Amino acid sequence: MEQHEHTSFIKTWQQLVVVVLLSFVVPVIVIIMIAKLVTGGLEINQTSNPALDSKLVAERIKPVASVAVVDASKPREQLAGEAVYKATCMVCHAAGVANAPKLGDKATWGPRIKEGFAAALANTIKGTSRGMPAKGGNTDLSDLEVARAVVYMGNQAGAGWKEPAAEAKKQ
Ligand code: HEC
Repeated sequence: MEQHEHTSFIKTWQQLVVVVLLSFVVPVIVIIMIAKLVTGGLEINQTSNPALDSKLVAERIKPVASVAVVDASKPREQLAGEAVYKATCMVCHAAGVANAPKLGDKATWGPRIKEGFAAALANTIKGTSRGMPAKGGNTDLSDLEVARAVVYMGNQAGAGWKEPAAEAKKQ
């Protein structure tokens, strides 16, 4: 009796053949579809998927460092004041190391701003005996870049200085 209640849904040999065939055919079809998907054979619009866009892929997998060929005879790009500040001046002027006037601190910048931009710039280019190294210790900086950094720093404390024109003399 038990046997009859648990009858298989395969009742005829034809059904058995169909089931056996399907159990072979279906996985094969699935594998073919996956293979096509991976190799890009299926109709998926590649450019609409940013993850697959070939330019972006190339961008992602390119070597970390790329060599920029620079013509040494050409004057290099002059850095902006904030960039100079971050690269060279921040070490001392962010925290006020060795009594360097802190960026944005109006109390310490006030008297220096009163002295004027020219005086501040001269002290920055030549350095001072009280701990400000000439050009912040980075003599690769042009006078223009130093001037831009001084303007940037002064203005953080409300100086309202203007950047000198780009054609100012260098070094
Ligand atoms: C090694 C630390 C250090 C670095 C780096 C540094 N400074 Fe200074 N800076 C000082 C100190 C200390 C003073 C205060 C010196 C003084 O009062 O004479 C100062 C003062 C100044 C002043 C005020 C000058 C004045 O006339 O009172 C300016 C402007 C200035 N720095 C700009 C810069 C710029 C721009 C850079 C980056 C290019 C820079 N500093 C990098 C330590 C530094």
